[in-house]
Amino acid sequence: MGFMDRIGTPLSPSATRVMLLGCGELGKEVIIALQRLGCEVIGVDRYADAPGMQVAHRSHVVAMTDGAALRALIEKEKPHLVVPEIEAIATAALVEMERDGVAGHFPEFIPTARAAQLTMNREGIRRLAAEELGLPVSPYKFADSLAEMQAAIDGGIGFPCVVKPVMSSSGKGQSLLKSQADVQKAWDYAQAGGRVGAGRVIVEGFIDFEYEITQLTVRAVGTSGAVETFFCEPIGHVQVNGDYVESWQPMAMSQVALQKSRDIARAITGNLGGRGIFGVELFVRGDQVWFSEVSPRPHDTGLVTLATQRLSEFELHARAILGLPVDTSLRRPGASAVIYGGLEEKGIAFEGVANALQVPESDLRLFGKPESFKKRRMGVAVANADTTDEARQRAKLAASRVKPVTGK
Ligand SMILES: Nc1ncnc2c1ncn2[C@@H]1O[C@H](COP(=O)(O)OP(=O)(O)OP(=O)(O)O)[C@@H](O)[C@H]1O
Ligand SMILES: [Mg+2]
Repeated sequence: MGFMDRIGTPLSPSATRVMLLGCGELGKEVIIALQRLGCEVIGVDRYADAPGMQVAHRSHVVAMTDGAALRALIEKEKPHLVVPEIEAIATAALVEMERDGVAGHFPEFIPTARAAQLTMNREGIRRLAAEELGLPVSPYKFADSLAEMQAAIDGGIGFPCVVKPVMSSSGKGQSLLKSQADVQKAWDYAQAGGRVGAGRVIVEGFIDFEYEITQLTVRAVGTSGAVETFFCEPIGHVQVNGDYVESWQPMAMSQVALQKSRDIARAITGNLGGRGIFGVELFVRGDQVWFSEVSPRPHDTGLVTLATQRLSEFELHARAILGLPVDTSLRRPGASAVIYGGLEEKGIAFEGVANALQVPESDLRLFGKPESFKKRRMGVAVANADTTDEARQRAKLAASRVKPVTGK
């Protein structure tokens, strides 16, 4: 069933109102896609002038981990759709609002409140994938103390292994442990890097994968009128310290590995339900595939689709959530390369932009984040070419030519 085959006029009583919870670079692109389709968009983030706020009709600064504040905002704005862009949200409040409505108004939560809740905690999604759906995953155990973590390692997970706070993203608080010497500092780092402070970790056996992919998967209304599953071409990527630095599409894979990846993606997204795009993260070695995690929203490695697909992952998300048809076809091979802030400063500037755009078939996104940190993602370069190898060279070259400098 579609959401509606009708879109109103923004800022009028007929408006199709969409609220984005999170206004980072991914949210900004989703907002632009929604704006182009004539939606009224309300941006929400924890700080003022976030990238997506700069292109929304209006915005609010709210701690999205505060369920009461979120409820009050939803009551005031009465959005038709509520679209999480980040993990750190009071998802229990979303579940309640989805079930009971908000002052007689029933917004739709994308893709579902349960999906947002399960995926914000590694335990929720891991247990669903492994224990309910039987998907192949790395060996794992959860631990609430250093002693429990040690017992998990000694009890079979062994070295190397990976320790992560159950609530964290972008590699924060995550360590690769090679030997006993790494145990204490991994625990300490996880305690410092988790989203909600001290707490539970997952200990995962290290998967010696050949490569990892994001299988972008769209649940959207198909020609049958029912929600169907659509797959983008696989995206290859490189992560440094748990954070993506480079991606390309399509990733060359064996037919068997591709089929297994899509079977896994269909199973997990089918269980999470709703409509929208999902980034299913998978590890691959030969014909073997492991499920790692899934974002029920656009994926950072999918920034490459701004260059490669007829409809970017952001446009696909916008269409899918509105109940509109999608087209996941690849237009031309391409790649993306991240531009980091390099500086710790507000209001920085970027030099070398013209030089960067001299690179053939290149493009840039500068996200407009008000404050730069050394390792904060401030922009991305994308490029196309006949092959992904050449596109990667071009994207990296373009990114390297953009120089963050002081804005003073
Ligand atoms: N069990 C594992 N074996 C091998 N590599 C791993 C394992 N777990 C994580 N990694 C590596 O670390 C990266 C980040 O891990 P993961 O996706 O779980 O963290 P994250 O904090 O959710 O990152 P993001 O939010 O950027 O997706 C993976 O993409 C992979 O490169
Ligand atoms: Mg990940």
